Amino acid sequence: MQIAIAGAGYVGLTTGACLCELGHTVSVVEVDPIRLERLERGESPFYEPGLTPLLNRHLGANLRVTGSLSEGLAGARVLFACVGTPPRRTGAPDLGFLRRLLTDIRQRGAAWTDGAQPVVVLKSTVPPGTNRWAQGFLGDRFAVVSNPEFLREGTAIADFFHPDRVVVGAESAAAADLVASLYDTVDAPVMMTGWEEAELVKYATNAFLALKVSFANEIAALCDGLGADAPPVLRALGLDQRIGERFLAPGPGFGGSCLPKDLAALRWKAQRTRVRLDLLPAALRANRRQRQRVIAKLGPVSGKRVAVWGLAFKAGTDDVREAASLEIIPQLLSAGAEVVAHDPEARETFARAIPAEQHPGLRLVADPWEALAGADALLILTEWPIYRSASPEAIRAALKGDLVVDARNLLDPERAAQAGLRYKGVGRRGPGT
Ligand code: UGA
Repeated sequence: MQIAIAGAGYVGLTTGACLCELGHTVSVVEVDPIRLERLERGESPFYEPGLTPLLNRHLGANLRVTGSLSEGLAGARVLFACVGTPPRRTGAPDLGFLRRLLTDIRQRGAAWTDGAQPVVVLKSTVPPGTNRWAQGFLGDRFAVVSNPEFLREGTAIADFFHPDRVVVGAESAAAADLVASLYDTVDAPVMMTGWEEAELVKYATNAFLALKVSFANEIAALCDGLGADAPPVLRALGLDQRIGERFLAPGPGFGGSCLPKDLAALRWKAQRTRVRLDLLPAALRANRRQRQRVIAKLGPVSGKRVAVWGLAFKAGTDDVREAASLEIIPQLLSAGAEVVAHDPEARETFARAIPAEQHPGLRLVADPWEALAGADALLILTEWPIYRSASPEAIRAALKGDLVVDARNLLDPERAAQAGLRYKGVGRRGPGT
């Protein structure tokens, strides 16, 4: 099928490239000229494993990129709206980009499909009620379908081809069937729902994942208090099939562009709907506290040099949005610490968010071991494999001090202690904790 995609962000570009792989013909419309130029050269504008080769396999064949919506729409039966919905201060998502896109589509009328009813699929994460509003806005010449995405950054391509489910929310059965048929060769249950239900599945999923992470972090904090070891507790918890093992790894608190934003949006929507939800604010509060718990493990930092390994909000991405590093590093600097930080992929994005020239105590380095030289302590914030495989002996030899705060529980506490490190994990029983 011929498909147009508006927006070449994580979701739009991954969806576009993967739909090509399924045999569809896709035009990706990107309005940002710099991004477009990179795409035309076959480069992904962000780091996502496997995406650049996939783009190059299809560019010039069944994938094209364009800056013009009219060009993208020509001959397409379906348009996927994958534009950003960034959060406002209230938590409400800003639907400005979506409104502009729908205005453009409405102005162009329904002519782009050669007579068949065009289908506009909202893949952007939008609050319940938005698809219904979009249908009213576009009118009956169009059919609006909600098809939320569940792609994780870093594993987005595998997530596309092996989803746990595909959710299609619509009022028009014909439009729903058409969208579902795009995924015919993907082996996953397809849930057909109404608009609001599909919109809520997306928010409820991310909110539940955030709750799960916060729960694991609180159990780990309790383990710290009790002198107990969290990993076996959480593993046994996860083996209960009603709970499940995934998303129970304690850490520095969840980040990224989705979990914090979607939790805040759902809370905002509940307030607007005058429905009191107690768990969502608690998960956000617990997440803020988790960052402070990590900082507290370092002890007084004034006049100390702290090496930080990991700036991205998780491994496998260069994204630092809502990353623990963005909250923790400025606090260490304000407390009088000097920070030397490394990340294999996210140094540039971090430097854009926190320019080093505005923070004289901050240095970003390209070699993880260089960060350790002369440092009093090491703080590990992201679970990159290169940090996991670092030997405690080598860390001890490179560090000036002996303190390691491992906010991702990558190192073995006993081996670290044997190497002469004062090791503090998250809910790890061990010498020095
Ligand atoms: C999340 C969802 O997992 C995707 O299903 C969804 O499509 C996406 O948001 C979205 O709404 O677009 P993502 O933000 O890429 O994906 O990241 P996750 O893998 O969910 O991780 C979120 C945060 O939780 C990270 O900071 C991660 O380090 C943290 N986390 C995750 C933990 O601290 N412990 C865990 O056990 C799992």
